[in-house]
Amino acid sequence: MLCLGIESSCDETAAAVVKDGREVLSSVVRSQIDLHRVFGGVVPEIACRAHAEAILPVVERALADASARPEDLDVIAVTHRPGLIGALLVGVSAAKALAFALGKPIVGVDHIEAHLYANRLAHADFAWPNVGLIVSGGHTALYHSRGPADHVKLGATRDDAAGEAFDKVSKIMGLGYPGGPIIDALAREGNAKAVEMPRLDDKGPDFSFSGVKTAVLYKWKGQNAGRGRKVKAPPPRPAPADLAAAFQESVVDVLVAKTLRAAGELGVKSVALGGGVACNSRLRERMAEACAKAGIKLFIPPPNLCTDNAAMVAGLGSALFAAGVVSTLELDAVATG
Ligand code: KG4
Ligand code: ZN
Repeated sequence: MLCLGIESSCDETAAAVVKDGREVLSSVVRSQIDLHRVFGGVVPEIACRAHAEAILPVVERALADASARPEDLDVIAVTHRPGLIGALLVGVSAAKALAFALGKPIVGVDHIEAHLYANRLAHADFAWPNVGLIVSGGHTALYHSRGPADHVKLGATRDDAAGEAFDKVSKIMGLGYPGGPIIDALAREGNAKAVEMPRLDDKGPDFSFSGVKTAVLYKWKGQNAGRGRKVKAPPPRPAPADLAAAFQESVVDVLVAKTLRAAGELGVKSVALGGGVACNSRLRERMAEACAKAGIKLFIPPPNLCTDNAAMVAGLGSALFAAGVVSTLELDAVATG
């Protein structure tokens, strides 16, 4: 079974062809990072226009790379939620037009569920149930995953997503965009213990990263910076690498603790990660150590399947289609999860 996947929920225009729900024949990702970098974050209007320009060439490239003709496809899968509404609409409209013109079925896919499904593409022994941790630029949430599209949300962030916190900290420190990979690299040269950071593990299932982000702001720019109050004479700034390492360690501590606690409480023996922050080298290392200690199997996709891509969309779309799920041409884009 050949599935074309289309992804346009944020700032990556992506298309992929996946065979039998497992084998990635092609995966094309056109990043818009260069367009958004100057603004320090994704500008929705710019994202929509860039998707509209890129979508057809990206789909054509994915088909060509897979040596597949449009008529060879069995089904077209598309991310239809959650994401930037205008951005989602570009992918959904393209998928519907293709499905209609080719007379092929279409399946709408949830972006978060697709991030978790990326593990199925990467690991032959990946199975359910597991505890799924999604850490991306737009979302941070913990799930009890019982099947490809059967996820019970255990908790989510109350404020910033983990990736958003990395991006904002990088912006505060003037390091560049997107912040995750920059902080990850810088932190390797730093000492996390050299700077004191709050650890916001309230023992519950929800996350909050705004406190640690504000702690970085105050350490870097002085107490009360950004509050419209007079900034007290700032103490000497910590070394950037130490501050980056301390921030990262604090975020990773909480992600690892909450994930392992959820797995323990549910008696689930495997953990799955997904989303761009799952590329983080310290998170991968610490989660692997903690899972090994607890006798839990850990699944993390390779970095190109952690960040936004369409192979995960085609993979999940294939699984849904094989289980009898089909959407209609009424399929709509939905901004919320
Ligand atoms: O999943 P993704 O590609 O897009 C969304 O669905 O949001 O995630 C992008 C996020 C960005 O915030 C980026 O800074 C973060 O993933 N990221 C990282 C790393 N690589 C990407 N965060 C921490 N460490 C990394 N190595
Ligand atoms: Zn994503």
